[in-house]
Amino acid sequence: MKSTGGSEEAKRRAGRAAADRVADGMVVGLGTGSTAAHAIRALGERVDAGLDIEGIPTSFQSRQLAREAGIPLTTLEDAFPDVAIDGADQVANGDLVKGGGAAHAREKVVDAAATAFLVVADETKLADTLDHAVPVEVLPDARPLVESRVRDMDGEPTLRAAERKDGPVVTDNGNLVLDCEFGEIGDPAKLAWGLAEVPGVVAHGLFVGLADAVFVGSEEGVRTLSLEE
Ligand code: A5P
Repeated sequence: MKSTGGSEEAKRRAGRAAADRVADGMVVGLGTGSTAAHAIRALGERVDAGLDIEGIPTSFQSRQLAREAGIPLTTLEDAFPDVAIDGADQVANGDLVKGGGAAHAREKVVDAAATAFLVVADETKLADTLDHAVPVEVLPDARPLVESRVRDMDGEPTLRAAERKDGPVVTDNGNLVLDCEFGEIGDPAKLAWGLAEVPGVVAHGLFVGLADAVFVGSEEGVRTLSLEE
């Protein structure tokens, strides 16, 4: 698993608090990353204690974790999630940058399909304005075109390199990831639409207006930011 900022205790508190919101009979979207992993483990403990749920994983990683935790799995073909619990790389005004683990394409599908999308994050992820590089998953053959269009949008794309393999990160879907620096993102919705329109973009990591609540963990406890209107 990649390592990100924030203490493990803060992530654990956030993950477990969101897992506590899950009730008997629910279908649960299972996010990816170190914070969502705490929620999956907490759900596994509750399943051991008799909770009756089914999970829909968002990645190879979350599927493996869920299997280890004993959570029965299903797919979107059979049910949409009642709730999805997922991490974020940055949160500002309820909008998110995701994809630090290159799982944002499937995450966006599962999180958007859920009746309620609960974000789990430690305090280091909170910002006033999004300025984190935006991960963009691209079809391998489309990389030069997407790079060119990102530069047209005043972005600077960098092909994400693998850490223990020569060459690029290849996603669970067989694609590449461009980490695109835009500086401060004043209008996330506009940038999201612009990126989505580029041919060859499979999914970008801007999650605009999708989250219903953010569970923010710290060393002291958890606070909940409700985003529902
Ligand atoms: C996976 O691709 C991401 O969207 C993660 O959910 C995000 O990077 C947060 O991960 P951490 O909880 O490990 O910081």
